[in-house]
Amino acid sequence: MLPAILAPSILAGDHAHLAASAADVAALGLTWIHLDIMDGRFVPNLTFGPGTLQALRRHGSKLFFDTHLMLAEPAPHIEAFAKAGANLISIHIEPDYDHRATLERIRALGCQCGIVLNPGTPARSVAPLLPVVDLVLVMTVQPGFGGQPFRRDMLTKIAEIDGWRRAQNLPFRLEVDGGIGLATATECRQAGADTFVVGTSFFGSKDRPALAAAVARL
Ligand code: DX5
Ligand code: ZN
Repeated sequence: MLPAILAPSILAGDHAHLAASAADVAALGLTWIHLDIMDGRFVPNLTFGPGTLQALRRHGSKLFFDTHLMLAEPAPHIEAFAKAGANLISIHIEPDYDHRATLERIRALGCQCGIVLNPGTPARSVAPLLPVVDLVLVMTVQPGFGGQPFRRDMLTKIAEIDGWRRAQNLPFRLEVDGGIGLATATECRQAGADTFVVGTSFFGSKDRPALAAAVARL
């Protein structure tokens, strides 16, 4: 079982002081930060773009940038995110484009690559891509907004993908995103997840060190 990683989602941070929000994450000894990129098309919301990643790097962030592209057409934007400092770029399976070629392009630009599934998308839709990805992200809410309740019915999907990972002895990380706090992270861990995106319950927590330590122990 891979060690647990907590990836705070800066979507729930202070958008007028994102560098400070990222610095708070690093100060806890955490190594990952999750960056939600929304286009107002694939999801009904807008966030930020590669310029924000670049600015976070310019302000000294050395965190691993776990970049979640919620874009109807990700391919034209991959290079900009890679150049801006992304370490891992994840793309959704739902829109119709060449997923495999886009994942290969992410790799060729020196980043790790991930594939993401919405709650309504069956696990089998990503099965052929499992050997070529570094991460599979199972959405545990409908993407677009932070602060939504965890979808417990996603636990079977997590277990299904973890089962394939074991059977094929594949090295990818299995990440969950949406409605994650200590209790739901624990349930996801039992189902096979190892990487936990935490937005509202991280930035809203009164005791972030305790939350970070508890997730690390999972
Ligand atoms: C949802 C985003 C999430 C979001 C999670 O569309 O992909 O990363 O920040 O936020 P919480 O943890 O508040 O559900
Ligand atoms: Zn996300």
